[in-house]
Parts: sequence; structure tokens; C-alpha cells
Amino acid sequence: MQGGSGAGYGWRKTRKKMNEGSTMKENQTFLAETLDGLTRQPKTLPCKYFYDERGSALFEDICEQPEYYPTRTELGIMEEHAPEMARALGPDLVLIEYGSGSSRKTRVLLEALENPAAYLPIDISKDALFPSAESIAKEYPKLAVLPICGDYLSPLPLPEATPTENRRAVYFPGSTIGNFMPDEALSFLHRMAEQAGPGGAVLIGVDLKKDAAALERAYDDRAGVTAAFNLNLLARINRELGADFPLEDFRHEARWNEAEGRVEMHLVAKQACEIRVGSERVAFEAGESIHTENSYKYEISEFEALAAQAGLRADRRWLDPDEKFSVQLYEVA
Ligand code: AVI
Repeated sequence: MQGGSGAGYGWRKTRKKMNEGSTMKENQTFLAETLDGLTRQPKTLPCKYFYDERGSALFEDICEQPEYYPTRTELGIMEEHAPEMARALGPDLVLIEYGSGSSRKTRVLLEALENPAAYLPIDISKDALFPSAESIAKEYPKLAVLPICGDYLSPLPLPEATPTENRRAVYFPGSTIGNFMPDEALSFLHRMAEQAGPGGAVLIGVDLKKDAAALERAYDDRAGVTAAFNLNLLARINRELGADFPLEDFRHEARWNEAEGRVEMHLVAKQACEIRVGSERVAFEAGESIHTENSYKYEISEFEALAAQAGLRADRRWLDPDEKFSVQLYEVA
């Protein structure tokens, strides 16, 4: 996350309902965080607000773009190596998943696990969580499916029905960890270690460092879907906060920041302008940008060092043949 209000982590597509029918308080928070970000130098906006209904649909489209390799590469790794992952995780597992419970990756893992005892998907969106939990419960009648509706960023107690004697694993696919600042990623890894408990495991999708041009292409596809996704944030601010951003006067930019090890998304003002946001006015110089998202990329050794600080011992890792993406398994020390 950037700054105090933060650009925030990349909330998954399943979070799309979060701000629909939002309360007045949520709206005030959205306005306060927007103004806070736009009055910083450099300007920022919290990326959690990408995921309104249109933003969520655009994110789904991004995942289908030829340049955006993470989704299909991670799925390929799961399809290829789920049996080994399942052996390493062991039988009778309690699987806790952060984010969407509907994804194909989870099914691939569940399919491979030996006699999993319980599956606990955690998601903030009821609309994403419950239908998907229900369909998994139907597909795996012997599995205790215990959905938890809440924000996995806050401590959440596990349901009473969670088997207590079994090994627990926290599964966090999607490389969403890359949308956290490293210090936030560290506290989140601590949280995962705590939730898996002593003797437990963490299985996490982590996108890897690679050629800068390939990274910038992944975040600036030719069809312009990522550009539309980024610009949709301004459209949402216009609609929900009474702002008047002229969308045609801003352009999307993806920049690989070598020093920070992250892809940054920006919205750049094509010309000087003054924008109304609520009752405030925000001035832009020509070429000035709003930094909307970070997507950190890691070397295996960098991520392992971060995880070690959270008491997680690297066990195994699986990569695709081109070593673009990794699924990493950790034991709670
Ligand atoms: C959700 N998150 C892992 C995506 C990423 O790759 O950082 C969000 C995204 N932003 C632009 N394209 C994809």
C-alpha cells in the first residue's frame, strides 16, 4: 500500500459486491481516502476501490489477456503439481482459503488432497462466498465446508465446527500478496502462520521477477483492458463521489520500478486540469500521475527471506517451465 490511506492490496474479483449498495459510512470513507490520496505528493488512490461491478468484470477479462500470464500460469502449475502438493500437505487436512472459493485452482487442489477434513473459504463478499461454498459442498459430500464471511485482513475466529486435531493449511493463491507493501506482506504472513498454527502449512502463489518489458506488457495489454480497468477507478469516483474527472484527459501507464521490485500502475494527466471531488478541487499539472497500484514481484530467495521473518520455513516450491510464477509451500516453524 502506498502512503497512509494506501493504494491497498489488489482485492480479488470476488470482492465485487463489497461496495455495492454501500452505506453512507463506506461512502464517507471512500471520499476521505480519495481526497487523502489526491492531496499527497505524489498523488495516489487506494486500489481496493478498483473492484466495483465493472472493475470486477474487467479484472476477469484481464486474466484472459494473452499478455497477463499470472492466472493461467498458476493454474498450469496447480494442474501439473497438485498431487505432489497434496502429498506434502498430507491427509485429513483442514484447508483455509483466503479470497475466492470458486476458483479452478482450489478445485484442482481439493481433488488431489487425500480425504480433506474441512474446507474454510474466507471472503468478504457473501454473494461470492456462499454459492461457491454450496457447490463445493455438493461436489464433495464428505467434506465439511465451513464458509467464513469476513475480511481476511482482520483476525477472524474459525467456526466452532472446525476439526481441532487435524493439520491446518492456509492457501492464498493469485499472487495477491504482491499487491501488499513488503511490510504489510510480512504482517500478513504472520497472520497466516498464526492461523495455520504449530505444525501447519501455508501454500501461496507468488509472481516472480522477470524481464521488465514482459512485466509492463502484462499490465498494459494491447486490447486496452488493463487501461480500462485503471480508468474505471476515475469513472467510479465521478459516479459515487460527485467528481468530474474527464476520463479522456487521463491515460493508463504501467511502469516497472526496478529499485522497488514492483510494477506500478499510474493514471497520467495529459494536460493541466483542475478536478472537483466532492466539495474540494484538485489541481493536476500536465504529465502528473496518480499512482493506483503496486504489484510486487519476488525472487524465490527474497520471498523465502520475508516468510522466514514470519516464522515460516520454506519447504517446497513449484514453478512453471519458464519460471514465471511460483506456488510456494511453507511449514509453520
Ligand atoms: C489481483 N492482483 C494479483 C492483480 C495483479 O496482478 O497485481 C491485479 C491486477 N492489476 C492489474 N492487472 C492485474
